Amino acid sequence: MKVLVTGGAGYIGAHIVRQLEKSGHVPIILDDLRRSKPYRIGHYLWENTALEDSAAVMKVFEKHRPESVIHLGGYISVGESVRKPDLYWENNLAASTGLLLAAARYPVTAFLFSSTAAVYGMAEKVPIPETAPYAPTCAYGSSKLAFEKTLHRAGEALGIKTTALRYFNASGACPEWNVGEDHEPEEHLIPRILQALLDEKKVQVYGRDYPTPDGTCVRDYIHVLDLADAHVKVIESSVLSGGQSLNVGTGRGYSVLEVVEAVGQELGLRPSVEFLDRRPGDPPSLVADSSLLQVLLGWKARHSDLRTIVSSAAAWEKVRRSALGR
Ligand SMILES: NC(=O)c1ccc[n+]([C@@H]2O[C@H](COP(=O)([O-])OP(=O)(O)OC[C@H]3O[C@@H](n4cnc5c(N)ncnc54)[C@H](O)[C@@H]3O)[C@@H](O)[C@H]2O)c1
Repeated sequence: MKVLVTGGAGYIGAHIVRQLEKSGHVPIILDDLRRSKPYRIGHYLWENTALEDSAAVMKVFEKHRPESVIHLGGYISVGESVRKPDLYWENNLAASTGLLLAAARYPVTAFLFSSTAAVYGMAEKVPIPETAPYAPTCAYGSSKLAFEKTLHRAGEALGIKTTALRYFNASGACPEWNVGEDHEPEEHLIPRILQALLDEKKVQVYGRDYPTPDGTCVRDYIHVLDLADAHVKVIESSVLSGGQSLNVGTGRGYSVLEVVEAVGQELGLRPSVEFLDRRPGDPPSLVADSSLLQVLLGWKARHSDLRTIVSSAAAWEKVRRSALGR
């Protein structure tokens, strides 16, 4: 199947593109590299196109005629979305809606959207099922939720089977494919801890007074290969009827301090921690109930134990640093 992957040069997209190829599909990357780097393109078909440019996006559909779209292109920082909410509404809602309308003019039958646990915000109970109330704390979560709703409503009217996957914390890497996390600035916990330890700096931890067992935030870490597998299952599915939003996580949460400890053990180094104020918009605990995805698609997390995640991320970080000459 031909699959258009927006944001296919990003961290998660790069893994999905490779997993699609491994599963016999033909991925086409749409990404203008505004938040990525050319090495992620590899040998794949690539359109250097901005999602906001609807005429150019239409040309991409005309040229490749993909049967499915996996839409990861967007902005991802909670903190940035608090400071610059307009960017998030523009890219994550307006440009995404333009993409959906373009897809509807071509024979696209399925549209899969990368959503986020941030739609739940301050969840009242964990693990969080898809039926939990929405309480996003920032424009990132709100704009993702707004597009989910637009997608499902419009998809029904336009005859496109729509699915949103709500990722919890994507993590880990696939160094064999020469891909892993490489954001600038890096805001995600595991690469930040790795970088601090390898640079012999203190690990900065935001907030130590959350209502969690050790006072630091608790998150559900899902290996990026398990995420990629869920995407392939969704686009190949004949079971999903469309209009569904499904959680992708493991059901097991780790606190920031537990992750710091695990990374220290992996590197054989003793971390030194510096506690800072809470970051605006960070909920105390986000852990997924993913039973719906498991029941509907037979999906199971196979790579997401913390040791596998941390060791793959550490191996990738060493590859990344040696490419940078560090
Ligand atoms: N990383 C996570 O833990 C996580 C968790 C939940 C959801 N998500 C979602 O998954 C998706 C991918 O996340 P990621 O970590 O790979 O992010 P990323 O920043 O590494 O990748 C996003 C890619 O999209 C491209 N892009 C962004 N806006 C674009 C536009 N308007 N036109 C063309 N290209 C554009 C960027 O250049 C980049 O390559 C995002 O939609 C994010 O919201 C990520």
